[in-house]
Amino acid sequence: MSSPSHDTDTPPPPAHVAIIMDGNGRWAKARGLPRVAGHQRGVDALRGVVEAGQEMEIDFLTLYAFSSENWKRPPTEVDDLMGLLRLYLRRELRELHRNGVRIRFIGEWRKLAPDIVKLIEDAQNTTDANTGLTLVIAVNYGSHREIVEATRTIAAAVADGAMTLEDIDEASFARHLHTDGIPDPDLVIRTSGEQRLSNFLLWQAGYAELVFMDVLWPDFTKQSLQQAVDEFHQRERRYGASSG
Ligand code: IPE
Ligand code: IPE
Ligand code: MG
Repeated sequence: MSSPSHDTDTPPPPAHVAIIMDGNGRWAKARGLPRVAGHQRGVDALRGVVEAGQEMEIDFLTLYAFSSENWKRPPTEVDDLMGLLRLYLRRELRELHRNGVRIRFIGEWRKLAPDIVKLIEDAQNTTDANTGLTLVIAVNYGSHREIVEATRTIAAAVADGAMTLEDIDEASFARHLHTDGIPDPDLVIRTSGEQRLSNFLLWQAGYAELVFMDVLWPDFTKQSLQQAVDEFHQRERRYGASSG
């Protein structure tokens, strides 16, 4: 679907961009600052990227904010990250809602502190009917657990007769993932020079284009997002077919 603001020479943006926001700690270290300072600047970068996503008319923007493995970090750092999530939701919800952003969380966010669970429920409920950018925030998310949980739910449904073995296929499996209703990402970006997925959208990113960038997350700008999208447009997506 094209919109009047896209001139005909510009290819449409990827419908779903997912970002592994990495490098906050190294950004802080390079400046002799505590890691939390990097995370704070990381939230500023996030704000800018959500704005850029809206301007570029991306439909879905998924941000990896906290992995199921990030609990291995020192408790003080975990507290700092949870504190920033609280602040973000308290401060940004009104503005995001005004801009028509629909907010969705993936990951085991119901296991977070009760006040954060409440903020998340409130953000999702308030913005549920919005039709602009869908902002998907991955918190306490890990693909391995997501896939195991989906398998358990399906196995239980088969065991009690609600589903048959034949009912299990790629589409029905995907409906049991946290991303039910969200199209697979077209583009996955990781910042900070690391080239791995760290348990992020392993099923969903099966055919995503991967773009690894050296920029540390707090330095990521609208231009950085544009650069990744430009790179995406250079790629030829073949899905296993012969080259055209
Ligand atoms: C990304 O920055 C933020 C989270 C993972 C929560 P890091 O904190 O991983 O930064 P580096 O990788 O140590 O530089
Ligand atoms: C991935 O970054 C998780 C998030 C960005 C939330 P990490 O910094 O935790 O990943 P590893 O440990 O380097 O793989
Ligand atoms: Mg990291």
